[in-house]
Amino acid sequence: MIFELTTPASAAALAAVHALAFDTPWNAADLASLSQGANAILLQARDGDDVAGFILCRCIADEAEVLTLAVSPAYRRRGIGSRLLENATALAGARSAGRMFLEVAADNPAAIALYETAGFRPVGKRSGYYSRVGGAVDAVVMRRDLNS
Ligand SMILES: CC(C)(COP(=O)(O)OP(=O)(O)OC[C@H]1O[C@@H](n2cnc3c(N)ncnc32)[C@H](O)[C@@H]1OP(=O)(O)O)[C@@H](O)C(=O)NCCC(=O)NCCS
Repeated sequence: MIFELTTPASAAALAAVHALAFDTPWNAADLASLSQGANAILLQARDGDDVAGFILCRCIADEAEVLTLAVSPAYRRRGIGSRLLENATALAGARSAGRMFLEVAADNPAAIALYETAGFRPVGKRSGYYSRVGGAVDAVVMRRDLNS
């Protein structure tokens, strides 16, 4: 498995992974737009020609934010999500970000467990942030200091 920086030109392949990971996926144009510019960190995990997963973060001033993290179902529970996140936090720290934030749905225990293992802690909540068929779900806001 190769972990590497990639560019908005990969957006179509990344959108295909996103579509396997989320009920309301981002399309290639949205992904390309969000990953443009020097503030973006776009990392993929690649198995030959297959994209196994990716993470998109944004750094603004001394703060970084995870915009999305997705691993294709066929590649889960092999540590790929964790390694993408670790690599992204290292790159954000190297760009002088002192902390990283993210939002995760309160009904996503897999992702919450991954983030807690990586040192993120809940610091807030956005009520009813995600819409679901059965009713809105809160977002948990999580934070990790990058210099510790
Ligand atoms: C969440 C996600 C990125 C995890 O990717 P992954 O490569 O399978 O994660 P890892 O193998 O690195 O798992 C790391 C740890 O996270 C936790 N974890 C991951 N998947 C889990 C699951 N299905 N159930 C419970 N815990 C889970 C475990 O603690 C795991 O460590 P372990 O395997 O030693 O027990 C992946 O399931 C995914 O893409 N889900 C859909 C999209 C999503 O929810 N993205 C995050 C939104 S903020």
